[in-house]
Order: sequence, then structure tokens, then C-alpha cells
Amino acid sequence: MKTLELFLGRESAGEELTVMNKVQLNATSIPHLQQSLLQWYTLFGRDLPWRHNQDPYKIWISEIMLQQTQVKTVIPYFHRWLIEFPTLISLANASQQQVLKAWEGLGYYARARNLHQAAQQMVRCHTGEVPPNLQSLLTLPGIGRTTAGGILSSAYNQPISILDTNVKRVLARLIALPVPVNQAIPDLWKLTDQLLSQDQPRDFNQALMDLGAMVCLPKHPSCSSCPWQSHCQAHILGKTMEIPSAKVRQTLPHKLIGVAVIRNQNGEILIDRRRQGGLLGGLWEFPGGKIEPGETVEECIHREIQEELGILVTVEDPLITIDHTYSHFWVTLYVHHCQYLSGEPQPLECDEIRWVTLEQLTDFPFPKANTRIIEALKEALTE
Ligand code: ADE
Repeated sequence: MKTLELFLGRESAGEELTVMNKVQLNATSIPHLQQSLLQWYTLFGRDLPWRHNQDPYKIWISEIMLQQTQVKTVIPYFHRWLIEFPTLISLANASQQQVLKAWEGLGYYARARNLHQAAQQMVRCHTGEVPPNLQSLLTLPGIGRTTAGGILSSAYNQPISILDTNVKRVLARLIALPVPVNQAIPDLWKLTDQLLSQDQPRDFNQALMDLGAMVCLPKHPSCSSCPWQSHCQAHILGKTMEIPSAKVRQTLPHKLIGVAVIRNQNGEILIDRRRQGGLLGGLWEFPGGKIEPGETVEECIHREIQEELGILVTVEDPLITIDHTYSHFWVTLYVHHCQYLSGEPQPLECDEIRWVTLEQLTDFPFPKANTRIIEALKEALTE
């Protein structure tokens, strides 16, 4: 019997590889897996806006938005984006601020900065087109192997496979993967490559994503509606709840941040633009910083404002306290009203600073946690 062998959980000791586990997939079942999935997709596949046409620009935008965000959140952003930036050229010619504003609230802002830079690179090096080959796509910022597969299969119907989080789970269950998925990435790529329909790569990849999103769910998989049920090793072994095995979760570090809403005599508010490159780079924020051990919130804000902007303020009443979780840590923002006392504000640790009115605040792209400060501020000042 022809089998596809996958070697998992290798331990490398110098040059030697020790095979820890071996999983086999009967290669003769591949045509059946392909056909049953494609048939299921014809009946149950989702009607998603980026599937309505094969415009590579629109597909690229959708794939980037979908990287770390759920479909239902992406849909309204996708529609608004195409109204604001209908073509690749219009995106390349936009300012970074416009791009970040259109992305505001979607999170992982490096995606927006990368989209903008990649559009400019496509104009410079690829005649303003999304390049139709893997090698060129992988040179563009923000495009990794699975995103490239999504774009090439959707836009150009090329047989390039994908391996996103949902697909990893589906495949892990299919072969009853005995280790956490992140310990078997090369093998899972091999498997998704082998499974991909060469005749219908577009529909196959989309179908695989839908299977992961609609049927092979993390907590409550609907195995009775699954076209792969009879092949699924996890189902056969009664192990769908154990597979994929959980990776060891580290507790997220917690940062305490003092934040200042500084107002001058005219009632204008001081905001700053974060440096490019770092977390949330290019976005605007209310100034502040990390509370040092032994420091009160008030002391922290006073110190940070002096270091960051070179001015003196008096720290007054609290406005709001906000908890917000990022990918690798979570923060508590202690936001205080502050009165501007003296000194000329300078962008000492940021790219730009501005005094703006309450109404103007919403013209600037802010991280999500900061938009809650704006809401609280509007409420406090219009009471
Ligand atoms: N996630 C990534 N790409 C996707 C697509 N094209 N449809 C649905 N979810 C996705």
C-alpha cells in the first residue's frame, strides 16, 4: 500500500535524527479526500465577499485582513477599504496615516504598514500588479507562505497550498497528530501539499478553510457533518477533543502604564505619534509610559511627560482605567487628566506631537485602547 509518511517530533542530537513518532496517511485515500471536500464545499461553502471575483488586489487585501482576524470582523473593513483604496495604485499613493486610519480597530497594525509598503514595492518592481508567483510574493512585507498560497490559489488558481491555524487543526485531527501542531510544521506542510487538488486548487484551499471554520471547530467539532469523518483518525480513535494537543500556554506578562490627557488653556489636547518600527508604530496615542517599581501613577505620569515631551504638568483626577490584551502581554492603562504648566513640548521619544481639539481627535488613527480614552473624554467634557 502506498503511504505518505510523516515523521514527527524528531529530536536532533548533532547530525542524528531520532524518529519519535511516525504517522501514515494512506495515499490512495487522497483522491477521495479531495472529491468529498470539494463536493461538500459546493453545497456548504461560505458566500464571502472576496470570493465574488478573482481580482488579485482584493484577494491580497482580504488575505492580510484575515491573517489574525475573524471573517465577521473583516467583512465591513474589507468593504470600506475598497471604497477608500479601490486600486493598488490608490493604496500605494495614500499616506500612512490614511492607511492606518482605515485599519483602526482591526489590530496588529504592522499588517497595515506592510500592506502600504508592499503596494509601493509592487508599483516599483511589479508594474503595479500583485506578482503571480510564490518567489516574488514572499519578498513582499507581510506575505508569508500561507498568505502567498491563499493569494495564488484564489487569484490565479495556482496549486500552492496553505497552512493557517484552522488548517493545522483539521490536518492534525485527520492524522491524529500525537504532538502539538507547532512541533510538526514541516510535516503538516508536506501533508497540505499532498492533499491539495491540482485540478481545483482555488476551491480546495477555500474548502479546507471553511471546513476548519465551520465544522472542525476547536471545542465542538460537528463530526457528523464532516466530509472527512470516515478518514479522520482522531474521530476514529475518539480523540477529537484531545487533538490537536494543547501547546503549553505561558501566562502573559502584565504592564502598568500611566497615561496623560494633557489640556492647555485653550482646551486643546496633546497627542503624540509613536515611532515607526515598534509596536503600534505610526499610530497616535495619549502620552505616558510604564510605571516603575515603587512609583505611584501620578509620579509615573509626571516623569514620563517630562522625559517624553520635555514639559511639566500637574497630574489631576483619574479619567478612566482600561485593561487591554495584546498578542504577547496585557496592559492596564491608568489615565489621568493633566494640566499643562510649562515648557515647549518636543517629540523627544516619539515622531511627532500635536495639540488638537476634542473634535479633531477622531481624525487620527489611535490603537483600540486609546479610542476608549477618547470616548471617556468626550463624555467627561460634554457633561
Ligand atoms: N482565512 C484566510 N483566508 C481566508 C479566506 N479566503 N476565506 C476565509 N477565511 C480565510
